[in-house]
Amino acid sequence: MLLDVRDLHVEFRTRDGIAKAVNGVTYAVDAGETLAVLGESGSGKSVTAQAVMGILDTPPGRITGGEVLFQGRDLLRLGERERRKVRGAGMAMIFQDALSALNPVLTVGDQLAEMFTVHRGMSRKGARAKAVELMDRVRIPAAKERLGQYPHQFSGGMRQRIMIAMALALEPALIIADEPTTALDVTVQAQVMDLLAELQRELGMGLILITHDLGVVADVADRIAVMYAGRIVETAPVHDLYKAPAHPYTRGLLDSIPRLDRKGRELYAIKGLPPNLMHIPSGCAFHPRCPMAQDVCTTDEPDLFDVRRDRGSACFFYRECLRG
Ligand SMILES: Nc1ncnc2c1ncn2[C@@H]1O[C@H](COP(=O)(O)OP(=O)(O)OP(=O)(O)O)[C@@H](O)[C@H]1O
Ligand SMILES: [Mg+2]
Repeated sequence: MLLDVRDLHVEFRTRDGIAKAVNGVTYAVDAGETLAVLGESGSGKSVTAQAVMGILDTPPGRITGGEVLFQGRDLLRLGERERRKVRGAGMAMIFQDALSALNPVLTVGDQLAEMFTVHRGMSRKGARAKAVELMDRVRIPAAKERLGQYPHQFSGGMRQRIMIAMALALEPALIIADEPTTALDVTVQAQVMDLLAELQRELGMGLILITHDLGVVADVADRIAVMYAGRIVETAPVHDLYKAPAHPYTRGLLDSIPRLDRKGRELYAIKGLPPNLMHIPSGCAFHPRCPMAQDVCTTDEPDLFDVRRDRGSACFFYRECLRG
């Protein structure tokens, strides 16, 4: 297994109290595999990714438990120097907002070339050639001519391609893409997503794709992990999950998007609000919003049960849920 996150816990100490953002996340990604991480805003998708990458703001954030095994080593036990080596060469991250992730006062060529001079000890000339190669690879037209331009001189879609190029530069084994296309308009979204999926296949990388967009997930992901209140509530191969969700929250998410195969059916909205992470409900955190909740759900916290090989659900009533 390329990445194996086990029982990860992260909290934030704030003036108002302790926000329990990640409460025992367990997920794994293999080489060449795409794991989509799905869930409402505030469910802990980004914080989990930041903890895996080693870029969590500490303080206020604090990892209070768990393991992040990457190629067999627990990253949480490495010092910052070791950790930095893993970032970039081992794993890289793509963010939603390229404009704030790229350096505004350096040309795109310099930023790309720096990856090779700093991390690979290459000459300036060699590094620039590599930069052009990367820009070609992410299909930026007239790469050589655009090397001397600054991030703001590129369109949103092109900037996102540059960030993908930066992430790919050192050929990491794992890429974490956090809402990589959310800021783009729809047609450009699809192009950037296709590019990312293609490069991932070509290079055999593991990919964690954090997204709100269930439509994107179906096309590119192998597996899905659905998060709620800082936990994985369901995990399954994409098509199994679409066919029959094993958790009422997943069902709610699926029923709240328009689908061609369900034309004519009314769209559904999950009732209520995401939980306050300073006061997560007892038992199953989803119970106040769950149409299937029973007494046990208010008192006992469900484990992630093995639904069948390769599938897990943290619902006492997953069988009923599967039957629909
Ligand atoms: N810097 C911070 N200080 C305090 N609390 C934080 C901080 N960053 C995150 N949190 C807490 O962690 C929770 C989870 O945040 P996270 O960014 O992981 O959500 P998300 O699932 O990525 O949501 P979105 O879909 O909106 O990106 C937040 O609701 C917030 O309570
Ligand atoms: Mg996020």
